[in-house]
Amino acid sequence: MNLARAINIADLRLAAKRRLPRILFDWIDGGAGDEAALAQSLAQFAAARLMPRYLLDVSKLSLAKTLFGRTYDVPFGVAPVGLAGMFWSGGEIAMAEAARRANAPFILSGTSIASIEEAAKIAPEHVWHQLYPSRDIAVSRDIIARAGAASAQALVVTVDLPVQAKRERDIRNGFALPIRYDARLILDGLLHPAWSLQWLANGGMPRMGNWAPYAGEGASPTKIAEFSRAQSFSPQTWDHLDQYRKWWGGKLVVKGLQHPDDAKRALAAGCDGIIISNHGGRQFDRGPTPLDSLPAIKDAVGDKMAVMLDGGVRRGADIAVALASGADFVFCGRAILYGVAAAGLPGATRAFDILRDELSRTMGQIGRVKIEELDKDALAR
Ligand SMILES: Cc1cc2nc3c(=O)[nH]c(=O)nc-3n(C[C@H](O)[C@H](O)[C@H](O)COP(=O)(O)O)c2cc1C
Repeated sequence: MNLARAINIADLRLAAKRRLPRILFDWIDGGAGDEAALAQSLAQFAAARLMPRYLLDVSKLSLAKTLFGRTYDVPFGVAPVGLAGMFWSGGEIAMAEAARRANAPFILSGTSIASIEEAAKIAPEHVWHQLYPSRDIAVSRDIIARAGAASAQALVVTVDLPVQAKRERDIRNGFALPIRYDARLILDGLLHPAWSLQWLANGGMPRMGNWAPYAGEGASPTKIAEFSRAQSFSPQTWDHLDQYRKWWGGKLVVKGLQHPDDAKRALAAGCDGIIISNHGGRQFDRGPTPLDSLPAIKDAVGDKMAVMLDGGVRRGADIAVALASGADFVFCGRAILYGVAAAGLPGATRAFDILRDELSRTMGQIGRVKIEELDKDALAR
């Protein structure tokens, strides 16, 4: 595809839609239930207003932001998105490389195709690892040790999946792991030959690198995917988090909390940060949006831990809104994944470029030359 013609994230989304079979595109694009949480997260950003300030020198503008002692060139990174390597062969590697070039953090999903070792080789200073706790806690312990050995910069424990979400597009499409190249997908694939050719050339369902070592000697990619599915939705309590804190010596982040008391408890448990998230509207359709949850959490934990946010970011201006509303850092899931699914590394890079450019222009309009200058006064009421 001609990426120069993708001038915003919506264009990358359409390009991903054109390239992917529907069953896969819907899995990325959709949400739980009525998709109201997803729609509201987007609508809330779109409706947020920033106050322009003029006659200020904005010629030297920096988007740099320091987080956990490291200075990134942009105040946003890549949220963990599962199975990226199924949409584009080497999808996670492309995201890791794009993040390294952008000097931004990349959170590798626990259900990635590339392993933590492979991703860390590409972007040793930018990769964080996300843990989906497994039913067999020995597996979680080993994955945490591997993330440590691979020098992951932070461990992100995602907690908002106590049960499986009801995602109706997936139910209707029959989405399930492992992906089988059945009659339905063959038909869909015929309409999306670029994806199909890559999928078939790579031998179909790829190997899920983080789970592979535990699925048995010589387990096939299909068996590995079945193993990962069987280990999912492991019931978790605060005791588990205490356990992970003991096993992980580095920066520990909890992803998916929205209640201020939960944030306080995570702080008390020794966590270094939280990512306020509604999982991009994919888990709980009746929950609040991340922007709704931010003020009370910020009041509850102040600057004692990093308060980050994801969900619904499609524009650079959305990032400015989240930061002005009190977030210390922002993560983008679909915005980057659409780029990868459309065009691999150039697509991921394009997504970064679009968001960076839009954020710069926004900063210029509101007369802020540093990310630290984004505060509540930047919001128009
Ligand atoms: C296709 C897809 C897969 C995802 N997989 C994971 C995952 O493996 N682990 C996780 O913690 N969150 C996962 N998420 C949630 C994202 O990390 C993030 O919370 C969400 O995408 C933010 O919303 P946004 O897509 O509007 O940016 C996934 C989201 C999408 C869209």
